[in-house]
Amino acid sequence: MAITKVGIVGGGLMGSGIAQVAAQASYDVMLAEVNQDLLDRGMSRVYDAWEMLAGKGKITAAQAGEYRGRIRGTLNLQDFADRDLVIEAIIENLDEKKILFTTLDGILPAGSIIVSNTSSLPIMEMAAVTGREQRIAGLHFFNPAPLMKLVEIVRSIATSDQTVEELRTFAESLAKTPIVAKDTAGFVVNFLLIPYMLSAVRMYENGIATKEDIDTGMKLGCGYPMGPFELLDYVGLDTTLYAAEAIFKEYPDPAYAPPTLLRRMVQAGRYGRKNGKGFYVGGETQQ
Ligand code: 3HC
Repeated sequence: MAITKVGIVGGGLMGSGIAQVAAQASYDVMLAEVNQDLLDRGMSRVYDAWEMLAGKGKITAAQAGEYRGRIRGTLNLQDFADRDLVIEAIIENLDEKKILFTTLDGILPAGSIIVSNTSSLPIMEMAAVTGREQRIAGLHFFNPAPLMKLVEIVRSIATSDQTVEELRTFAESLAKTPIVAKDTAGFVVNFLLIPYMLSAVRMYENGIATKEDIDTGMKLGCGYPMGPFELLDYVGLDTTLYAAEAIFKEYPDPAYAPPTLLRRMVQAGRYGRKNGKGFYVGGETQQ
């Protein structure tokens, strides 16, 4: 089945970034949110990106106009009745995701694919609440979605080969490089990245080095574009904590156990760049 109409649920950083790249790749895109304010914010993020790219001369004003014409917003999931592929990019809460998958299953045509952009939650649990488990998979984009080249295709024990191949073609059409992972917590990248970030927090907690020196160490010593604390602020401390908890639940190894400081930061509402409070943004962290 050729994918031409794409639906995205959730207009946050990831959902809006995915909507942007899908519209640029000529898909008919519909972005759904739960209220007008969130929808407006999601759509503005996409429009602002095109305005910025046009301002830099990376795209023409005509292209920006064409892209805008390919994306619509909605508050009503019933509008997804003609979608070939729906990408879920809502909060990392399994119960919420299961409710959404049940709803989408009742709205979409039988052959349509539903994927989750989850960073670590089990795809099979979402598939099990639908009547189309072979058409359910993970499609995990990386932050910032318009720039990061990787997409993880996560296949559950029920995902069909055909679904994986259609998703591979879709990811490539967005100029992304797909890799395929089994439906195990953390998939490929977060299974390696999360314990690395948790180790950095433990080093800082234990006074081994300042967060600035740890960041400099990994940037200059390993060539990483960001140090672990910059990356924590960038991807979100809350997102990192939820991913760590999900991985720890499946692999109860101390390497995946969230350190106390990370928990306290999230309890204090320090989520990173997304709300202007984190390791570097919004003031000094006492620990
Ligand atoms: N669309 C298209 N282009 C855009 C854009 C958008 N929405 N936003 C910015 N750009 C362009 C800018 O115009 C700029 O272009 P120019 O260099 O030609 O002027 C270019 O992208 C780079 O922008 P910046 O100057 O802001 O970016 P940097 O060069 O500083 O790089 C970065 C930023 C790509 C974020 C880099 O620091 C990086 O790669 N960091 C690591 C990010 C990372 O590791 N992400 C993965 C996190 S893990 C994850 O997501 C998994 C999750 O489950 C937890």
